[in-house]
Parts: sequence; structure tokens; C-alpha cells
Amino acid sequence: MATGVLLAPERRHALLAWARRRDAYVIEDDYDAEFRYDREPVGALQGLAADRVVSIGTVSKSLAPALRIGWLLSPPALTAPLTEAKRIADRGTPTLDQLALARLIESGRYDRHLRRMRTLYGARCRTLRAALAEHAPKVRLTGLAAGFHAVAHLPDGADESAVIAAARARRVGLYGMSACRASGDSEPPRLVLGFGDVPERAIAEGIGAVGDLLGHGRGSKGTSI
Ligand SMILES: Cc1ncc(COP(=O)(O)O)c(C=O)c1O
Repeated sequence: MATGVLLAPERRHALLAWARRRDAYVIEDDYDAEFRYDREPVGALQGLAADRVVSIGTVSKSLAPALRIGWLLSPPALTAPLTEAKRIADRGTPTLDQLALARLIESGRYDRHLRRMRTLYGARCRTLRAALAEHAPKVRLTGLAAGFHAVAHLPDGADESAVIAAARARRVGLYGMSACRASGDSEPPRLVLGFGDVPERAIAEGIGAVGDLLGHGRGSKGTSI
């Protein structure tokens, strides 16, 4: 689960120094860097150490997951074995789809699409922030600077699944962090609030309908506590 935390410059350098010391590689899953709302996209680690970092990108978030097209920038020493591994794994990616994507990129329309979508998602993101500030001001939010979801920190001791069930009874779908943890742990209680495909009005209405549940984290049915 991407929590939206940015690696500080000194930690980036420490990671690369570690990789050099250990003759290891860092895999940089740069999967939604295009959608950053507070500043220009953050430079990739790959740009700092092209010989140590395998950088992975995808159009799953920018166009459609069903296209199954992504890319990989690999240190030169790994290019041949990775190419062979991919050939054995899936015997190739559809050529026509790749050519269409290449045309989209070369024509500048892919960049235009990204700019347009960034504006749209940015507005949804601001709506979510504003709705929570209004209806659940005590809930701490993290991970809003990029991507398509925020992490809402429920009060300590809150029952994540009870909040989700109570929201569902009000016809609002919420998702808990426990489903994203390898351990399945429900502590600390957190919600993953996705806003990628939810129109601004629905975000405002949805948070308005469940704000009291988030603020208290008790998952009561209907009335505010
Ligand atoms: C952490 C992470 N990396 C990468 C991807 C993209 O994967 P793919 O390109 O296989 O659709 C996703 C999709 O949700 C993701 O959550």
C-alpha cells in the first residue's frame, strides 16, 4: 500500500549508498508519480543512480489498467537478463497497443491528457480535504500530495470495521487499511479514501454523510455520537 510518504533527500542518498556497498539494486515502483498536486513531480531515484536503480512505470493509472502496458528502465548490466525473463514469462506485449501508445506520446496528446487529469484529480483531492475539514476536523489525513487516495487516521481505539459497516448502512463505501496490510492487522485504525473515480459532488455528499463516524470512530448507526 503506497502511503504517499516522500523519501527525504538524505534517505535517498543513504539507500543508494547501501545499494552500492552491497552490490544490490533498488526497485523504484514509480507508478503514479504523474499525479502530484502540491508541486512538480519528484525526480526519480533512477536519475541519481542509473546503474543501481530499476525504475518501473505503468499506464495503468494514467490510461487504463486493462492495457497492461508498462516500462522498465534498467541498469545496463540487467537489460539482457530482464529482456529474456520477460520473453519467457509472457512471450511479449501486443505490438499494436504499444505502437498506439507511442503515437499518443509522440504527438503530445499523452502529456495533454496527464495535465487535464491532474487538474481533475487535484480538484477531487481538494474537495475531499475540504469535506473532511468540515465534517470530521479531528481526523488526520496523510498521503494527499499525490496519487488517488488519502489515508485517514481514525482515533486510537476506533473500530475500523464497525466504521465501515456503519458507513455502508448509510450507503457510503469505505475501505479499511487492514485489507492492505500483509498481516491483516486492524491496528492502528485507518481508512483508505480513494477519490480517483468519484465526482466532486459525490465526495462532498459521501463525507458529509459519514463525517461523524470518522471523527468518533465508533461506527454508530445513523446519529452523531
Ligand atoms: C504499488 C503499485 N505499483 C504498480 C501498480 C501498477 O501495476 P500494473 O501496471 O501491473 O497495473 C499498482 C496498481 O495499482 C500499484 O498499486
